[in-house]
Amino acid sequence: MTPRVLTGDRPTGPLHLGHYFGTLRNRVRLQHDYDMIVIIADYQVLIDRDVADRLGETVDGLLLDYLAAGLDPGCTTIFTHSAVPALNQLLLPFLSLVSVPELQRNPTVKDEIQHSRQSSVSGLMFTYPVHQAADILFCKGNLVPVGQDQLPHIEMTRTVARRFNERYGPVFPIPEGLLSDAPLLPGTDGRKMSKSRGNAIALSAGPDEVARLVKGATTDADRHISYDPEGRPGVSGLVQLAALCLDRDPSELAGEIGDAGAAVLKRTVTEAVNEFLAPMRERRAAYAKDMQFVRNLLKSGNARANELADQTLREVQVAMGTNY
Ligand code: TRP
Repeated sequence: MTPRVLTGDRPTGPLHLGHYFGTLRNRVRLQHDYDMIVIIADYQVLIDRDVADRLGETVDGLLLDYLAAGLDPGCTTIFTHSAVPALNQLLLPFLSLVSVPELQRNPTVKDEIQHSRQSSVSGLMFTYPVHQAADILFCKGNLVPVGQDQLPHIEMTRTVARRFNERYGPVFPIPEGLLSDAPLLPGTDGRKMSKSRGNAIALSAGPDEVARLVKGATTDADRHISYDPEGRPGVSGLVQLAALCLDRDPSELAGEIGDAGAAVLKRTVTEAVNEFLAPMRERRAAYAKDMQFVRNLLKSGNARANELADQTLREVQVAMGTNY
């Protein structure tokens, strides 16, 4: 059987180049060789209610980002987990398999609590990693491409699957996390590209916006351009961005620019990014003309996810002896 890849995103806003080089590119590459299922984790967004406004619009935008980036609607399943009741029902038996201290120990959750702007921490904050286990196990996902910060959740998923199988009999395969080998992409200020830092270039950015963002990027006083991520994060971030878009070696590219300075570096970056985004802009414009098609894609993704989830829930009920 074709191994199943399950991965996805919280719909918190537009995807940017950091997402592209970090995960989207891999999804596009893997989609023809695996059964690729992409989850839009719209319930998970509720851990931060400030970004959970107007979820419908954000989901539309995310669908367009996926299609623009090259996910092929002919072979990739895209779904929202809120539309799949049987997936959500798995949360209850799964929660019974983990202890409260285990939930409290999760380093990613701790980090999110620390950075949360909410005045109090919701129950969902502590339990969403178990819900994420349901996201992965409802379809018996084998491979889960994720970033480093998601590894505690993969570990939680493996624990839940193992404990379920031990207690009730073998239902779930134990999934593997797949870390991307892409280097973290710095944003326009040399720090990790992230929407909340305001240093991101969205995949949906137009040519003028790209030019403006790159123009405003942080460089330094040394006129000579070199690639030295530790010592010169601003300049090196720009070099890396251009190198990724041009599929070139960053040190070599920096060497070519050399004494031409930051202005030429920025022009190179702007041109490289705009050229790179051009086919995505074309695809986005084509799909955006037919939002009915785009939403139907989600509908059929949700229908498939429901079939898979219903089947798994039936197996769970048989294993637990609750198939009345
Ligand atoms: N937690 C992931 C993120 O913040 C999103 C996500 C939800 C996910 N469910 C998933 C990722 C299942 C991989 C598999 O980006």
